[in-house]
Amino acid sequence: MEKYIVGGGKKLEGMVRVHGAKNAVLPILAATVLSGDVCRIYDCPRLSDVSHTIKILETLGCRVLFSGSTLTVDATSADKWEIPEELMREMRSSIIFLGAVASKMGKARLCAPGGCELGNRPIDLHMKALRELGMTLSEENGFIEARADKMHSGDIHLSFPSVGATENIILSAVGLKGETTISNAAREPEIVDLCEFLIKMGADIEGVGTEFIRIKGVAHLHGAEHRIIPDRIVASTLMCAAMTTGSEIELLNVRSSHLGAVVSVLRESGAKIEFFKDKMYIRAPQKILPVDIIKTQVYPGFPTDSQSVVMAALCKSEGTSVIVENLFENRFKIIPELAKMNADIIQDGRVAVIKGNKLCGAHLRAMDLRGGAALVIAALGAEGESVIEGIKYIERGYEDFDKMITTLGGDIIKHKEAIGCGFKRE
Ligand code: EPZ
Repeated sequence: MEKYIVGGGKKLEGMVRVHGAKNAVLPILAATVLSGDVCRIYDCPRLSDVSHTIKILETLGCRVLFSGSTLTVDATSADKWEIPEELMREMRSSIIFLGAVASKMGKARLCAPGGCELGNRPIDLHMKALRELGMTLSEENGFIEARADKMHSGDIHLSFPSVGATENIILSAVGLKGETTISNAAREPEIVDLCEFLIKMGADIEGVGTEFIRIKGVAHLHGAEHRIIPDRIVASTLMCAAMTTGSEIELLNVRSSHLGAVVSVLRESGAKIEFFKDKMYIRAPQKILPVDIIKTQVYPGFPTDSQSVVMAALCKSEGTSVIVENLFENRFKIIPELAKMNADIIQDGRVAVIKGNKLCGAHLRAMDLRGGAALVIAALGAEGESVIEGIKYIERGYEDFDKMITTLGGDIIKHKEAIGCGFKRE
């Protein structure tokens, strides 16, 4: 099993490039199935979630070439409609293939994604919306069977602006005769990127980025080329690395318009942050100021995916901050791990009260993607060495995370423990 060994207390400096957004790539790769053509995606990050998605595309009959950061998908001979259980289990967000595969192939079969480290992750909003569009959906022994022969356009209202449900509706509706509308749609930048890709493929979508989306079905979609937007969560993670190490760094390939909520919070904690086109300059304060209250919200509110890394930064603040996690019930699993580093955090349900403290290195275990990244951020700002196990979670969403940190002069190495032949088994 691989782990990170992090030497704390070292300042960071220099610049690092932020890679393309995982949560934009995944639905865009699902969209390539609809093209029945060749699509080329630029700035695609090399992540385990992307590798799983590529395996799903190949299972569906697509041919995929990943060269450098350019991913070419040839969907001309895609004609399969089942997604293997092991691939669904590996990555619950594969549910995003339901709408694309069913509407392209006329049917789909995949296993219900089930929960993950963040909680039970229901898909009721997806299922309700797709049924309102006439998709026949049956669930039996944990499998979902979909039929699209009776699908029709319609007006969908989402009771909650779910990112995945919004994406599944859009992917199902772009080829549906007539006009489909979504009210209370999610507005995340990754959905905007998906819509922009679909429009390049010939789709007719209005209201992109707003809570009211209008989709006029088209008879034919074709291949397209697209550059993925920068990953705003990776950017916020690196910003927090600057905070916990008291450093000045530069980030390349960022979109200021995607980072408003995180920038506002870090400025409140004393950071100096400036943007120059697609570059950001951040200088951490000598003393991190506490932040009264942070409530995670849907976009453009404070992103739940940045909550753990900001919590790690506030663990070193000069006072008491409060975080309310409104999206995922299990995001606070990181608290006992931070407590091993002398962090002073009290949790009551969805509320965490963080009292700043000196952090010391410890033996830690990542238990989810963003929580794992936050442990690295805290370890960089701790006194002494930390070991972080379970880095497979982190590799789902950060390409070469250790290399990003060493590029900035941070002290982190990836350690692979041989299993068997006398070495200690994990
Ligand atoms: C997407 O997940 C992201 N994943 C998540 O990022 C992100 O945290 C989340 O949006 C919120 O921004 C991808 O894009 C692959 P939701 P998604 O549907 O689509 C409830 C990461 O770390 N809900 O907006 O699953 C749900 O339980 C990941 O990169 C229902 O109740 O998020 C949650 O409380 C983690 N029923 C809330 O809505 C449903 O049918 C937000 O979920 C669907 C969702």
